Order: sequence, then structure tokens, then C-alpha cells
Amino acid sequence: IRSVVLGCGSYLPERILTNAELASKVDTSDEWIVQRTGIKQRHIAADGEFTSHLAIKAAQAALANAGVDAQSIDLIVLATSTPDNTFPATAVAVQNALGITHGAAFDLQAVCSGFIFGLTTADSLLRTGAGKRALVIGAETFSRILDWTDRGTCVLFGDGAGAVVLEAQTQPGEASDRGVLTTHLRSDGRHKEKLFVDGGPSSTQTVGYLRMEGREVFKHAVGMITDVIVDAFKATGASAETIDWFVPHQANKRIIDASAHKLHIAPQKVVLTVDLHGNTSAASIPLALSVAVNDGRIKKGDLVLLEAMGGGFTWGSALIRW
Ligand code: ACO
Repeated sequence: IRSVVLGCGSYLPERILTNAELASKVDTSDEWIVQRTGIKQRHIAADGEFTSHLAIKAAQAALANAGVDAQSIDLIVLATSTPDNTFPATAVAVQNALGITHGAAFDLQAVCSGFIFGLTTADSLLRTGAGKRALVIGAETFSRILDWTDRGTCVLFGDGAGAVVLEAQTQPGEASDRGVLTTHLRSDGRHKEKLFVDGGPSSTQTVGYLRMEGREVFKHAVGMITDVIVDAFKATGASAETIDWFVPHQANKRIIDASAHKLHIAPQKVVLTVDLHGNTSAASIPLALSVAVNDGRIKKGDLVLLEAMGGGFTWGSALIRW
């Protein structure tokens, strides 16, 4: 059994916050932000617009793109670090909005690596027969956990959501090699204080704000990313030459460029959305996938390499025959 991608979709809040507008609120400049991160703008959720609302719209877009009915979904894995509430899981709000009352829906938290962890979890459950069709969603409203007076972090993040529909397919013989081919997950809690939120239900009973040692994160990112990609290549025999598209977590253009360069991945294979979306954490990969599918770059049969790294630290890769 393989988990085959049937479709993907995404949603971005209407409001766009440009670097110029940010520069009128904190001591920064468009030039500094573009040079250090490649980010030009990000989307920000409206008052009353929650992570679940973004997730529902992305899920509906993914179902439409896949051409399948919501009732055929029996597993929803929603990756987020900005849930509507401490509980229940935001995934059940999505399930309810889609009118689904069977199967299972739950949230998963691995910060920026959330989509890779969610994809891996859904793929594993589908391959054991625990479900037949899954929605894997990454949805975030990081604008709600940013300290808007901290120029070192508030310029980096944005809100949004993306989703893919996966289906368990029994593949007779060598007929097709479509689907999730391999996934690799890693965590190392020694780094937990380099990127964290200084609040939570058990510790402070507040939501808290994102805190980051940017330089420390940067220092570890490229090595961790390339390690899990090498694992994906070793497991499948794929290489920088044989992949069609590289869809990395969109944190920072310099991290993406350095990783692609180290792995000898040609720049024209790299899907880049960080300029327009900022870092949307768990949502960034499915958002980028949607952009590249909708503009005709990613086509059925293409070999697509995903990777992410984020708070924890957590990091991971996935290789998919689309
Ligand atoms: N505008 C202007 N100046 C700024 C800003 C800003 N928005 N932010 C920081 N600065 C200043 C600092 O105060 C510092 O000034 P000083 O030298 O007078 O003290 C100077 O710029 C350099 O600061 P650094 O933090 O050393 O700058 P650096 O070149 O490392 O860039 C950045 C900072 C962009 C955060 C970088 O470290 C980075 O991208 N790190 C990776 C973090 C990341 O991507 N995290 C995302 C979450 S994890 C993930 O998704 C992978």
C-alpha cells in the first residue's frame, strides 16, 4: 500500500502586511528584511479569523482539487502550533465544518516541521489500513503569538494554511510508483530554548510570545536539513539530479539557497514562496505545493522533495512521486 497524493489546496488571509508598513511600526527597513530573509510581505488573519477558519478553506480547496467528497475522508491530521483553543484539537473543528462524523481527527505539533511530521503520521496510518483517505493540513496564525515590538522576530512570520489529500492505494506490481516514497523525522530537545513560546497552559496559563535566537537557529538549519535529505536519497536512490522539484519549508531564502547549493539542487527546481508568504510555519510547505501545482510546475509523476526544520529542534524530509 502507498499513500498517493490526490490533490492539494491552500488559503491565505486577505490582508497583506508589507515590509514598508512594518517599518512604520518597528525599527526596521524593507532593505534589511529582504537582504536577510528574502521576505517582502506576509498575510495576516483578520480579527475573528482563527486557525480553524484558514484550515477549513485550505481543506475545501484541497478536496476540490482532488475531486473527492469530504465524506470520503476518514482521517484528518492538522499540524499547528497556533490552535484555536488549548483543546479540543483544531482538527475536530475542521472535521465538523466539513460535515464528517466518522474516522479520526487530531492535531500534531512540531512547529515548522509540523507538515512533514503530519504527512509521515498520515502516511503511516494509511499504510497500516487505519484509514483510506486523509487530509493533511498545516494551518497557522503566528501573528497571534508574535511580540510586535521585537523586530528580530515579528518581521519573519505570516498566517496561512495548506492541505493535501492522501489516499491509500494498493499498487499491483510495478504498475505505478506514485505516492509517498520515504519520510525521515528527527528531534533534538537540547535546542528547545533556541526557539520557543514563553507561555502555555501548564507553565504560565498564558499564551505567550515567540522567542528566538535567530543566529543559533540559522547555524544549525542547513546541516540538519541536508542530513535528512541525504537520508531520503539513500533510502530511495534518488538524487539532486533525479528530483523534479524541491519544496522546502519557507523560513528564510538564505537557508533555502544554502541548503540547495550544498545538495547541488539546481536553483530552477526550487519552489520559493517566502517572499510573498513569510514564514507560515507548518503551513509553508502545503502553501508552496499549492502554488507550484496551480501554476503548472508540479505535475503528476514528478518527483518532489520536501524538507523542514523548526522549533525543538525538529526536522524532517519527505520524497513524493506526485
Ligand atoms: N531590522 C533591522 N535590524 C534588525 C532586525 C530587523 N528586523 N532584526 C534584527 N536586527 C539587527 C539586530 O538588532 C542586530 O543589530 P546589532 O548588530 O546592532 O546588535 C543586527 O540586526 C544583526 O542581528 P542578527 O540577529 O545577528 O542578524 P542575522 O543576520 O542573524 O539575521 C535573522 C537575523 C534574519 C533572524 C537570521 O538569524 C535568521 O534568519 N535566522 C533563522 C531564523 C529563522 O528562520 N527562524 C524561523 C523559525 S525556524 C524555522 O522555520 C527554520
